[in-house]
Amino acid sequence: MDINLLKGTVSRMLADDKGLLAMDESIPTANKRFKALGIPETEEYRRKYRQLIVTTQGLEEYISGAILFDETIHQQTDDGRSMLAILKEKGIVPGIKVDQGTVDLPGFPGEKITEGLDGLATRLANYAKQGLLFAKWRAVITIGNDIPTPMGIKANAFVLARYAALCQQVGLVPIVEPEVLMDGSHTLQRCAEVTEQVLHAVFAALHHMKVVLDGIILKPNMVLPGKDCPVQDDLEAVADATIQCFMRSVPAAVPGIAFLSGGQSAQLATERLNTMHIGYPDMPWALTFSFSRAIQQPALDKWAGKDENVAAAQQLLYERAGLNAEARQGSYMP
Ligand code: 13P
Repeated sequence: MDINLLKGTVSRMLADDKGLLAMDESIPTANKRFKALGIPETEEYRRKYRQLIVTTQGLEEYISGAILFDETIHQQTDDGRSMLAILKEKGIVPGIKVDQGTVDLPGFPGEKITEGLDGLATRLANYAKQGLLFAKWRAVITIGNDIPTPMGIKANAFVLARYAALCQQVGLVPIVEPEVLMDGSHTLQRCAEVTEQVLHAVFAALHHMKVVLDGIILKPNMVLPGKDCPVQDDLEAVADATIQCFMRSVPAAVPGIAFLSGGQSAQLATERLNTMHIGYPDMPWALTFSFSRAIQQPALDKWAGKDENVAAAQQLLYERAGLNAEARQGSYMP
């Protein structure tokens, strides 16, 4: 394993108060977002949309890396340039989602396990040859009455660690994403307990699988009350619970933590990241963003599949990326 290669990629991904843009929605997820806006659920419209994103002028001022879906790396812009080449020209580090989604975990009602380990070593080697420098794998943990179970957590942690070890072997930085969902009516405290348990299990599994922590990026949820919880805690309470959880469970060797947004509004996700930076200026890891919806949604709403809206949508994307870069410095003004 070439640890210097991994560290070099990580430092580009975390550089200069920029963040990561997740634009790796699978076909079903992209279709779901398009359907809500009446955008045709076709490959051509996904191409147009990804073109809108990668050709946004100045995106590289705030975005250091972009997570792509396999379909996108085979697509070109109207003028025949590959999406991947455009990102590279802008100096945006390209990465790829390599999990294949979740299925039910048999015997554990309500829990999921992520698929995609079979043949993964070969797929990763091919991606590395094509110039991708990092990968992403998402595990999903749901909070409910009797879930997550210890086995649900352990199974997902093990699979994440297998994926991460395979990535490092071929020189790709693994983004390790254990997402505790905000669906449900649980409290902030319950989310904190579950997130801490999950992170402990994930870091134990990474250690057992000989993953070098200096060469990964963690992509966790913020610690939040469930979206149906009657008590919606304020910015400071969320910041305190989230950072306390990480201080207790994320080793200092991990160079960066890049949040997913998980269904928060764009503004709230930015405000919460900002509040963490104001309250905790000396964290052991870089604390940044790897949002999909919280960066893209305003732009997607504006575009709505119409060519005449592309420029205005790009402006919103650029602005939202910039606001998150400000949040990374604690200087965002809502
Ligand atoms: P959201 O920011 O929309 O949660 O997406 C992040 C992501 O990459 C999910 O895997």
